Amino acid sequence: MTTKKTKAASTVKAPVAKAVKPAVKPAAAKPAVKPASKPAATKTVAAKLPAIDIGISEADRKKIVAGLSALLADSYTLYLMTHNFHWNVKGPQFNSLHLMFMGQYTEQWNALDLIAERIRALGYPAPGTYKEFVKLASIAEVEGVPSADDMVRYLVGAQEATARTARKLLPVVDAANDQPTIDLLTQRLDVHEKTAWMLRSVLDN
Ligand SMILES: [Fe+2]
Repeated sequence: MTTKKTKAASTVKAPVAKAVKPAVKPAAAKPAVKPASKPAATKTVAAKLPAIDIGISEADRKKIVAGLSALLADSYTLYLMTHNFHWNVKGPQFNSLHLMFMGQYTEQWNALDLIAERIRALGYPAPGTYKEFVKLASIAEVEGVPSADDMVRYLVGAQEATARTARKLLPVVDAANDQPTIDLLTQRLDVHEKTAWMLRSVLDN
């Protein structure tokens, strides 16, 4: 018995996908403008930054930076002391002292940036480690948790110490004709002296 193949089954081929030739041959990617010639190998020398010349001698800038670094160290120590006392104060004056310390450490935190950036503008790195601050500061760190009244006493001392550090630098800055630093020191003195008075008033019955 022979098997019959139907014509359709044997002759119909599956359609073969034929590649369609694009009507227009895509142009080879060519640069629109041909470079005129190969750039010549040139020796590039980085332009050297000129030395700082703001009208204050390097020796004076160095002296001012030393004083501002001491002020930054005192300011940071004072900032941390105030924030520490904000966290740990206890007793009947809790609410008023907690809030008073918050206002003071916030102001102090913002001042740190101004002092450090003035040091940078004078051309030197600003100290920024606890190790350097401990070495440079005139304020000793407080250990343990003092009573609320002692916290206020410590802060009076730290505010006035920071004022002394700022004031000590003023004649140097004045002689060097460094107005931005005079302005910064004057503002810091105003804040420290006013804050010391307010803190003293808490205890002065
Ligand atoms: Fe807080």
